[in-house]
Amino acid sequence: MEKILIVDDEAFIRENLERILAADGYRALSTGCPEEAVSIVTEDEISLVLLDLNLGSESGLDVLRAVKEVDPELLVIIITGYGTVESAVEALKIGAYDYIKKPFKADAIHLIVKLALETQSLRRKVKRLVRQENDINMIGTSPALLQIFQQIREVAKHETATVLITGESGTGKELVAQAIHNLSPRVDKPFIEINCGSLPFNLLESELFGHERGAFTDAKTRKLGLFEESDNGSIFLDEIGEMDMGLQVKLLRVLEDRKIRRLGGNRNIDINVRIIAATNAKLKNAIDAKEFREDLYYRLNVFPIHIPPLRERREDVPSLLEYFLQRFSREFNKAMRAFSRDALDLMLRYHWPGNVRELRNVVERICIMYNVDEIKPEHLPREIWGESPQSEVPFSYEIPPEGIVLDDVVCKVEKGLIAKAFTITGGNVARTARILNVPRGTLRYKLEKYELGIDLPG
Ligand SMILES: Nc1ncnc2c1ncn2[C@@H]1O[C@H](COP(=O)(O)OP(=O)(O)OP(=O)(O)O)[C@@H](O)[C@H]1O
Ligand SMILES: [Mg+2]
Repeated sequence: MEKILIVDDEAFIRENLERILAADGYRALSTGCPEEAVSIVTEDEISLVLLDLNLGSESGLDVLRAVKEVDPELLVIIITGYGTVESAVEALKIGAYDYIKKPFKADAIHLIVKLALETQSLRRKVKRLVRQENDINMIGTSPALLQIFQQIREVAKHETATVLITGESGTGKELVAQAIHNLSPRVDKPFIEINCGSLPFNLLESELFGHERGAFTDAKTRKLGLFEESDNGSIFLDEIGEMDMGLQVKLLRVLEDRKIRRLGGNRNIDINVRIIAATNAKLKNAIDAKEFREDLYYRLNVFPIHIPPLRERREDVPSLLEYFLQRFSREFNKAMRAFSRDALDLMLRYHWPGNVRELRNVVERICIMYNVDEIKPEHLPREIWGESPQSEVPFSYEIPPEGIVLDDVVCKVEKGLIAKAFTITGGNVARTARILNVPRGTLRYKLEKYELGIDLPG
């Protein structure tokens, strides 16, 4: 319910206004005291203020200034008595939205308040749209990603165009789906997401299509399905490749006719919903294997968006690292500033099988475990430095015709691994011992044995 604050020193006017506003279904708060007015505006969610300019000894203009300082966007309508029209003009300059003269009629109040609130909601909407226009909420500047941003903007405009998003797990398919909805004219309507792989066939069916009362044993009441709930908005069908063949037929019909029928129902219901589907599997292969309907594939693939894996757009790695570092450092109240050059190199070389999700989790874990100004290789999880080709370890060893001396080769492997571990930990013995899972004493012994000239404390 919209809350409106009345500020007037005459109790009779306050009561009158309260009655008029209550009749329109608004909640009216009122006060004759300027200080109280300011504190109400500060503490409460007020949509609109009706302010008398002539507040006994106090000037309404001062209250207006104070209120605008608290919330520059709050709409204020001035009430002015005879002889204060000049001040009303002054008030408009300070930022009042409009003014109304005393004595006023109830109808005039109804109208001016209604218009003001409509303006307010429009302004908020525009602001939200502008904000969304600027941020798709995805980090990265690789050509691949910039092209995706372009595609998102383009398809968002076409309200009902079906979109098929493909990409490995963790590449950001859900973010893309959300961005399409947010940038579309449907932004104020529902965005409903359902994972098609998470429910067995009949549950998913009733979830999507809804059911009439008595449609099956447990259907005690009528239930609307997600297609109906997302009407006028967007529905995001995640992991579409997992959808049962039987349900694929029904989805195909929805795409063709834009109608659904509730389970147990006997009438078709028109729906106006944008369908966004996503998959991390190759649907083409599924079609060959007769697990996915080809006709449905073509119906879904009206506007395809493919997100390449992170390893194919490594230039996004530094900005993603930076973004998540700032975010988690703040979230866990740490003062972590940057990645060292070496750490960054390792991360750039890593192949990120879990894509952005994995990168995000790595940074989160580091921010939980450490509190260092600069993140060094030793702070990174094993899998990341595991791939660096720092010191060669002869794992795939060819046995020559003349044979080998097993102990010598094993020693070589051991020496190589220890040297590599030291590079990663930056020469820290305790950490090196830990990542090799050997006691520190053993490590020291081996260092001497292999004459790995590393300065050891103690
Ligand atoms: N470009 C990006 N900028 C910022 N965060 C991103 C970006 N891409 C992905 N993420 C983040 O990575 C995580 C995984 O993204 P998302 O859930 O969208 O991936 P997905 O492709 O839907 O994965 P899955 O196939 O496993 O469902 C989320 O936390 C998301 O916020
Ligand atoms: Mg997802």
